[in-house]
Amino acid sequence: MKRIPAKWIVVGSIAFLILIQIIQPSRTNPPVVPSRSLEAHVNVPPEVQSVLKRSCYDCHSSSTVWPWYSYVAPVSWYVAHDVNVGRSHVNLQDWEAQVNPQEGLEHLGLICKLVRNGNMPPADYRVMHKGTDVSPEETNAVCAWSQKFSAAEDSDKKGD
Ligand code: HEC
Repeated sequence: MKRIPAKWIVVGSIAFLILIQIIQPSRTNPPVVPSRSLEAHVNVPPEVQSVLKRSCYDCHSSSTVWPWYSYVAPVSWYVAHDVNVGRSHVNLQDWEAQVNPQEGLEHLGLICKLVRNGNMPPADYRVMHKGTDVSPEETNAVCAWSQKFSAAEDSDKKGD
C-alpha cells in the first residue's frame, strides 16, 4: 500500500476542522425572570450568592458567558452540552423549572459535598476559568448554608 504523504494528512485535517464548523450548537441564554430565581425561593446569604454567581452560573443559570472557544467545533459541542446538562439538573435563575421542590432541596443539600470534593465546578472548567476555584473559607460558608437543607431532609427520613 502506498503511504499517504504527511502533507495530505495535514491538509485533510485542516479541511475537516473547517468543515465541522458548519455544525454549530445553539448557545441559548433564556430570559431571566427574577421571581423564578433560587433567591426568590430560599434565603441565600450574600457570601454564598457571590460564589454561586462566580463559579456556578456559567452552567447553572440562564446568564451563561459563552467564551470564544464555545464558537469553535468540536469544543463548542462539548461546552454547549455541559451547559444544557448543567441547567437541566439545576438552573439557579430558573428554580421553578426543576422537576419538584423536594428534588430542588436535595440538590441544595448536595452542594456542600460537591464543592468540598472539587466535583463542582468541574476541574476542566476551573482550569479554563481562572478565579473560579472555591477557597476553603468560601467552601465553609457554602457548606454552612447547604447543610441546612440536607439536615432538613435527614430529619424527614428519620434515622436514615
Ligand atoms: C462547566 C459547567 C459546570 C459548572 C461551572 C458547575 N456545574 Fe454543576 N453540573 C454540571 C453538569 C454537567 C452536571 C450534571 C452532570 C454531573 O453530575 O456531572 C452538574 C450537576 C450539578 C448538581 C446536581 C448533582 C446531582 O447529583 O444531581 C449540582 C447540585 C451542581 N451541579 C452544583 C454546582 C455548583 C454549586 C457549582 C458551583 C460551585 C457548579 N455546579 C458548577 C456542570 C457544571
